[in-house]
Formats: sequence, structure tokens, C-alpha cells
Amino acid sequence: MKNTFQKNILCIGAGYVGGPTMAMIAYKCPQYKITVVDINHERIAQWNSSKLPVYEPGLDEIVKATRGKNLFFDTDIDKGIKESDIIFVGVNTPTKTFGAGAGMAADLQYWEKTARQIREAAESPKIVVEKCTIPVKTALAMERILTSKDNHISFEVISNPEFLAEGTAMEDLEFPDRVLIGSRETESGIKARNAIVEIYKNWVPKERIIESNIWSSELSKLVANAFLAQRISSINAISALCEKTDANVGEVSKAIGMDSRLGSKFLNASIGFGGSCFKKDILNLAYLCKTYGLDEVADYWESVVKINEYQKERFVLNMLNSMFNTLAGKRICLLGFAFKADTGDTRETPALSIAKRLVEEKAELVITDPKALSNAMIDLDGVNGITYEPDPYRAAAGCDALAVMTEWKLYAELDYDRIYNTMAKPAFVFDGRNILDHKGLHKIGFNVFPIGSPPLTHY
Ligand code: UDX
Repeated sequence: MKNTFQKNILCIGAGYVGGPTMAMIAYKCPQYKITVVDINHERIAQWNSSKLPVYEPGLDEIVKATRGKNLFFDTDIDKGIKESDIIFVGVNTPTKTFGAGAGMAADLQYWEKTARQIREAAESPKIVVEKCTIPVKTALAMERILTSKDNHISFEVISNPEFLAEGTAMEDLEFPDRVLIGSRETESGIKARNAIVEIYKNWVPKERIIESNIWSSELSKLVANAFLAQRISSINAISALCEKTDANVGEVSKAIGMDSRLGSKFLNASIGFGGSCFKKDILNLAYLCKTYGLDEVADYWESVVKINEYQKERFVLNMLNSMFNTLAGKRICLLGFAFKADTGDTRETPALSIAKRLVEEKAELVITDPKALSNAMIDLDGVNGITYEPDPYRAAAGCDALAVMTEWKLYAELDYDRIYNTMAKPAFVFDGRNILDHKGLHKIGFNVFPIGSPPLTHY
């Protein structure tokens, strides 16, 4: 069959970034053929099935509308490389666990393997687009690998970082605050940059497409995440002070958030931030600073991660103190396990370290979550003393305490009278997300411990 598509676009990596992003491009640009490949055959099979490997509101509909028409999921990476002009790379770049920079630097082995595979398979010029988050100057390494074989094929590397947040991925992709496209400032670099601008112009207003030099683009992604995480750590640090001074962190957030210079978003005090990006990207940024001899700058950013760890530990110690200094044998229900609402993703979820610490204190845990229970079971594999229960009412029955880990709306809407009646007494609620009606719960009979405001107790 003759290929009548205007462009052939390939994406290597069918994960949380590659899958949804390519689905959106396919949906908005029926004139392009989009193929998504992955070394993980099982994941490709899932993308081709009725149960997609990623849960994202709105994703199913868009995949259904495009799959088999101009969106294809495949396992033949070499064929994909040969047939496409533009290659997005969305493979994972986790924190390195070994050798120099272990625990901080990005592990670029998948990224490098992908670059080598592109070089080996390519038979015509390619534009290679970095979609995953990588340290600044990765494009330089990419260029070196791509051009190290003298095969007279030209490659242009473009940085086009992904700013989507999980749970709102489709909305973020459809109406992005901005799309950032960085390239070399050479003639061929600008030409390649324009080819990527052309794709987004199909649905993103022109003023929201920012063009820049490639290093600014790479760095901006890390900095955006570092600034967002910094806001959460800042308000979480203040939540500790509020608890000591009878101030209310919600009221403080509101008061400072209405300063138009600060803005109101990302000021909800919590048990700490999670997710695959924040910690990894800040450590990556700090490592980058260290390699340039900027130790003070590195320490500054690392402290954002330290406050996050402190906040989780503070939550556990608060539970321990409030429940008469022993959790041994007590039954605690964790409401939620995902790192945030509207996702089944549990990567770096604060609930994991809190669960492990509570088990260390010999508490018995019952974990409930509408989307993340199967991931919770994998994450806590081998840890004894944990029950998994999808129904929150059954999960809470017989427990001494409830602890909100994830801001799922459904937890704010439960019948707490009914729950209270089935729990052991005195019954405790630790609201790690400040989403519950604290006064209402107190009236029912609970001892209520919010984050960053005075507890409401009956003793
Ligand atoms: C983030 C960035 O938002 C996104 O732009 C980037 O591309 C990837 O990293 P994501 O990890 O999906 O996205 O989630 P996000 O909504 O940013 O939340 C991160 C964590 O912070 C969650 O654990 C969330 O519950 C927590 N959070 C967020 C707070 O504790 N308080 C807040 O006020 C906001």
C-alpha cells in the first residue's frame, strides 16, 4: 500500500511520556503517520489491546480514535528508524544506582543504546528529538554518538522536553502552557527546529511555542521541576512551624498564594512530593552543579529533597507520638498509595516509605487505593503484615487509625459516620493531604491530625 502520509514520525519508548504524547500528535495531525516502538514487547501488546498500560483520563478515547489509522504500536525498532524522518526518544533515564554519581546522576545507558541503534539502522537523514529529561549537554553526547560512524548521514538533535503531569497528561498535551523546542543555532539546526515547530503548530497557538538554544531547553526542564518541588518543600517546611505555633498552613498558603508574584498553585502542604520526576531531576541538577564545582548551588537544591524526606519521617513520628508512643500491633488503614490522585503510578510515592516505616514500628497495615493496589503489591513485595483491600469501608473496619496518603477525591466523600462505627477506639485520622473535613470528623468522635494545623482531639 502506498504511504500517503506527509511525515513519518517514530517514538522510541512507549511509557508514560511516549505513549500519551504520540497519541495526542496522531489525534491532532491525521496527516502524519506515528509509530511507537519499545524493546518491551509485552508493553507494546498492551498498547495494542483494550487495556492500555498507562491509566490517564481521556487517553483511551484518543488511542481508540487513532490506533490503526495513523497511530501504530510496534516492536520492530530498526524498521521504524529506517522509515521515519523524525525520531522522538522517550526512553527512561532513572537515577544512576552504581559508580560515579550513584544516587544522583542520570543513568544514560538506555539513552546511549538508543542513539547507537539509530546510528546503525539509519539510511537517510534524521531529526532526533530528546523528549525524556536528561542532564544538560546530553545532546552533545548524542551528536557525538550519532556522527561517530562515517556513514555520511546527517543527524540533527533537538531538545523538546515534556512538561506533562500524570493524571492530567491529555489536558496538558492538548492545552500546554508552553512547548519548548531547542536546537543548535546553525542553519541545519534551525531547519530541524522548524520541522518540529511545524508539528506542534497543528494545535498549539504560535505564542506558546518557545524556541531556544538547545542547552537552555535541556536546562529549563530540570529547573521547572526543581522550582515546582521547591514550592512544595517550602510550604511543607512551614507546615512544621505551623504545628508548633498554632498557625494554620492552609491559611498561610492562601495568604501568600494571593500575592500575584507568588501565585496559588503547588502550595498544598502534604506528606511530601512523589512521582518519577521531581527527586530525580533535582538530584540530577545538583549533580550537574557539583561537576561544575558549584557545591553551594548543589547543596541549595539538595535541601529541597532533604525537606521532603524530613516531611515523611515527621508524619510517621507524629503518628507514633499521638498514638501513645507505640504502633506495635495497631491496625492502620492507608487511604491511597499512588503518588498523587488520578494515577495508578506509585514511583517515588511518599506512601511507600511511610508504609515501610510503619511496618518497622510493627503496625499492621491495610492499604486501599482505587488504581494503585497492584503496583503497591509489587512495591511492597516481601514486606509482611500488609493487607490490600480495594473497598475503603472494608479496609477501614477494625482499624485504630486512618492515614490519608493520596488526595483522591473519593476519600473526601466517604461516609465517615459509618467508618467510625466500625473502627477500634479511640479512632485516629492523620490527614496527610488535608483533604478531609477536620471539624466534621472531630464531631463524629475522631482524633484528627491535619498537616500544618493544630490537632482536634478528645483528650
Ligand atoms: C511533574 C511536573 O508537574 C511535570 O511538569 C513534569 O513534566 C513531571 O513532573 P508529576 O510528577 O506527574 O509531574 O506530578 P505533579 O502534579 O507535579 O505532582 C508531584 C508531587 O507533588 C505529587 O506527589 C503531588 O501529590 C505533590 N504535590 C503537588 C504536593 O504535595 N503539593 C502540591 O501543592 C502539589
